Amino acid sequence: MNEVGVYEAMRSLRAVRKLRPDPVPTEVLNRVLEAATWAPTGANTQPWRVVVVKAAAPKKQLGELYARGWKRYSDGHRAHLSEMPEDIRPAQERILAAGDYLADHFGESPVLAVFCFNPKMMAITDIKLDRVSVVGGGSIYPAVENLLLACRAEGLGCTLTTLLCGYEDRVKEILGIPSDWGTACTIPIGYPVGTGHGPITRKPIEKLAFLDRWKNTYSD
Ligand SMILES: Cc1cc2nc3c(=O)[nH]c(=O)nc-3n(C[C@H](O)[C@H](O)[C@H](O)COP(=O)(O)O)c2cc1C
Repeated sequence: MNEVGVYEAMRSLRAVRKLRPDPVPTEVLNRVLEAATWAPTGANTQPWRVVVVKAAAPKKQLGELYARGWKRYSDGHRAHLSEMPEDIRPAQERILAAGDYLADHFGESPVLAVFCFNPKMMAITDIKLDRVSVVGGGSIYPAVENLLLACRAEGLGCTLTTLLCGYEDRVKEILGIPSDWGTACTIPIGYPVGTGHGPITRKPIEKLAFLDRWKNTYSD
């Protein structure tokens, strides 16, 4: 394994959508899966499971569904490209092209890690509020992020994808997921076609953090 510091891993963990079909060695896959198990969960219940899909037949079926979801999503996005400011359009076009590539090859990814969750195992403290509930996701996505960071450390490409959640019933049927479990995301994993991970573009702290009170400028 190529040792990479945690800050370096976080700052270069970008969506890598072009993967080589070469298999991921079992010991490497085991390490990234173990990293997922280290994540915190509410009351330590670990209400998630991951179906590690390596077989060609279910990957092909999931790939067909993903391509359907991507087409629907990207058609909408493309329709708005011409209205976008000139300075952000090229980046959006690159993302769409990489997304097209992923959609065309999703089912050929060496591994599809399908994260599932069981709401009955969770204390979802915002469930009664009159807004979308997010607390439950807090017991799933830290495990997903650990897995992504471990992939980064191993030189594996990966992307958090959620388009398959729109076809959850079919995904559950394909993978034999019990009715009381839901799906949170699917991570295609494999060695990258190009350089893989690298620089990312994010808003700075000043745009995202406040000091003591909402909208108070955060400094040092
Ligand atoms: C909740 C969530 C859902 C996402 N769903 C998808 C997806 O379905 N397909 C996809 O290609 N990327 C998906 N992404 C990846 C984002 O597009 C990506 O992280 C973001 O554009 C930043 O890209 P970068 O890390 O390469 O800078 C998702 C990311 C998150 C956090």
